[in-house]
Amino acid sequence: MTSSPELAGRLGRPTPTPFGPLSRPPELASTIDTSGLVDADGGLVDRAIFTDHQIYQQELRRVFAPSWLFLAHTDQFRRPGDFFGTYMGEDPVIVTMDRNRKIRAYLNSCRHRGARVCRADAGTTRNFTCTYHGWSYGLDGGLVSVPNKAGYPDGFDTADWGLVEVPLIDSHRGLIFGTWNPQAPSLSEALGTMAWYMDAMLDHDGSGTEVVGGVHKWVLDGNWKLAAEQFATDWYHVNMSHASALMLLSPEGKGPRDEIVHRSGRQYADPNGHGAGFPVHPRNRFDAQPVHQWFDYDAARARLGDARVEGPLTNGHATVFPNFSYLPVNGSVRVWHPKGPDRMEVWAWTLVDRSMPDDVKEAQRLYNLRTFGPSGVFEQDDGENWSEVQAISRGFVTNSVPLNYQMGLGSEREDGRYPGLTSELYSDSAGRAFYRRWQRLMNTPAWYEGDV
Ligand code: FES
Ligand SMILES: [Fe+2]
Repeated sequence: MTSSPELAGRLGRPTPTPFGPLSRPPELASTIDTSGLVDADGGLVDRAIFTDHQIYQQELRRVFAPSWLFLAHTDQFRRPGDFFGTYMGEDPVIVTMDRNRKIRAYLNSCRHRGARVCRADAGTTRNFTCTYHGWSYGLDGGLVSVPNKAGYPDGFDTADWGLVEVPLIDSHRGLIFGTWNPQAPSLSEALGTMAWYMDAMLDHDGSGTEVVGGVHKWVLDGNWKLAAEQFATDWYHVNMSHASALMLLSPEGKGPRDEIVHRSGRQYADPNGHGAGFPVHPRNRFDAQPVHQWFDYDAARARLGDARVEGPLTNGHATVFPNFSYLPVNGSVRVWHPKGPDRMEVWAWTLVDRSMPDDVKEAQRLYNLRTFGPSGVFEQDDGENWSEVQAISRGFVTNSVPLNYQMGLGSEREDGRYPGLTSELYSDSAGRAFYRRWQRLMNTPAWYEGDV
């Protein structure tokens, strides 16, 4: 992935299409210089980045297309032909296991007239057959059958008309990511130090994680970045936005205990735009009682170290840039699929340790459902806030007033305990890192734009 500052200055070039021999006129993909819309050093953001349609189109081209994006969990693919349909940005893709048990992903769009070749959410198949005219593709993406093939000219070769394949697929402890960018850095480079924080959720005991309860999907009015940045950087809202939910969960029903609402902790800001925040306490624990009772905290300390067990292993929030987020105490992982500048679709999985007994897995599933499922007591508070922010942001004056991301400005440091740059838990540090990364990508020609 190119991100050099010298490239960032050369804007306004036509953006060629990534695939195919046709030539697209530049007017279809004009480029906006976004350097004036984000001041990461000063902690200011222009609201146009949440509302403008042209900026949104540029995001799809320059943020989503070149980045590693979360696709699925390896547990969803147990035998050849298992498939799962998802999105990369707004591009529909099929993720599947081929006959050699390799995980591959294809653009879910027929090479004939562009219909989806797979309309099911998930399942098992031998072929992907388009229901429009019947072109059929194998698990390796190859075009294997064309009705009335004799009607095509001699030069027509099915080998030229296979599904468009996602060139790079990789996984990190069960989480499968893909990128359209054939020149992208490796997934482990892209995750960098963030992997240390992710492993606090994914590597409790070496057994790995699995999915329980399928994938929950719901639609929210709001720009996808509102959710992604909140999960990267925002513990600040917890006391206020979730006050009623915290009261509900407090033992006496009186109100959240002081240690819950005024905890100290750290917030990690990653140079690639990832972020994580977590309270730090020697007795951090899982909230679901059966999970807490089953979990071997001493073994986890030996495996992952005290810092992770006392911080990011249980409570907290995190985003892997651009649109994958998780909540470790719940085992909730989710993608914020963009659906235009003012709408997102949330897709959420519940992960549990493979080693958990069934009743503990069930307890974790129910706990996550009740708190951060589509009707969960916390989830609804968050969705309400994002929709509220979005609903008024089309007003011209409203949209012209910059937003404040200045909490903890300049406080980032290496604290000797948590790797990378961290600040206090209550901080906008990871939010600034998120938008710094976003802005850099928006102003950097993507791989298909050539050696500009
Ligand atoms: S669009 Fe798929 S066969 Fe025609
Ligand atoms: Fe929240």
